[in-house]
Amino acid sequence: MVNQTGNRSQLRIAVAGATGRVGRALVARLAKDPVQVVALSRNASSIATSASVQAAEADFDKPSTLLEAMQGADRLFLAHGTSDRQVANEIALIDAAVTAGVSHIVKLSAMGPPTRLHPFDWHMQIEANLAGREIGYTVLRPSSFVDTLNRAKAPVAEATWGGAAGDGLVNLIDSRDVAEVARVALLDELFLSSQRAYHLTGPACVTMPQVAEELSKLLDRPVTYQHRTRAEQRALLIASGSSEMVTDLLLGLDRIFREGVLAETTTTVSDLLGRPARSVVQWLTDNLNGFMK
Ligand SMILES: NC(=O)c1ccc[n+]([C@@H]2O[C@H](COP(=O)([O-])OP(=O)(O)OC[C@H]3O[C@@H](n4cnc5c(N)ncnc54)[C@H](OP(=O)(O)O)[C@@H]3O)[C@@H](O)[C@H]2O)c1
Repeated sequence: MVNQTGNRSQLRIAVAGATGRVGRALVARLAKDPVQVVALSRNASSIATSASVQAAEADFDKPSTLLEAMQGADRLFLAHGTSDRQVANEIALIDAAVTAGVSHIVKLSAMGPPTRLHPFDWHMQIEANLAGREIGYTVLRPSSFVDTLNRAKAPVAEATWGGAAGDGLVNLIDSRDVAEVARVALLDELFLSSQRAYHLTGPACVTMPQVAEELSKLLDRPVTYQHRTRAEQRALLIASGSSEMVTDLLLGLDRIFREGVLAETTTTVSDLLGRPARSVVQWLTDNLNGFMK
């Protein structure tokens, strides 16, 4: 938890993945705190800077930029877009952070079992690397982001939404809540050298047909989730232009949803934030426009 008596005015927090879903929300929130934020991007000019937010170029293909970006940083938030370069890139930044004397890393990982499925296996490799370091860290393991439903927007509008998730239960978390938990972990003054993991979920589980029911109420028209086999869904994804890697990732998610692998509900978000986690209905309500015809 945040030690309100700690002097954070000089605290320098580097944020990797600052232009991503979680990173962007985190930078916006930290900008209101008495800290200096260094937002990292391959394209630093895309970052909106201010008195408390500075931008720095960090390009994993240019390792010197990583060490430079870590100079003077006290804490690091580590997020990286899903990519087959993720393991090498995150470990390179961890190396730079350890070399530069960063005291605590908050790493965005994923909730899920040890498995060969990407990206879970990638996160396991990065977490295992972190575990062998002399550095404090907090691993954030969120369930699937509710923003995943962004992919359903056009199909719902066109009445073609479906997949291979069946009636499986999944707990979906709002990525804004993940960002707020990351902020708490980054500002924690009490256990800097601690190595810990937080399992983060939304307040309840849903099935895809239940999401369709909620959308039907909100849109005031019938929305259905069409049940497909994996082979049917694969063919549709490939035909719509998804790469093999993205198709496999999406089919992997459908499988995990169908089998209820991410159906665990934890109270960690509300324990740390002092308010309930945002619900799927709240996210659908905030994002309803995209589901309309
Ligand atoms: N989606 C889910 O349901 C879910 C659930 C749990 C965990 N996660 C984890 O969340 C992480 C992604 O976080 P996010 O959604 O906030 O990020 P995101 O929106 O996918 O954004 C990707 C970020 O990674 C940065 N990046 C830098 N170098 C990259 C490279 N070579 N390839 C790809 N991205 C690169 C990008 O920065 P620049 O382009 O500015 O350089 C960008 O800020 C992944 O590790 C994923 O496994 C996702």
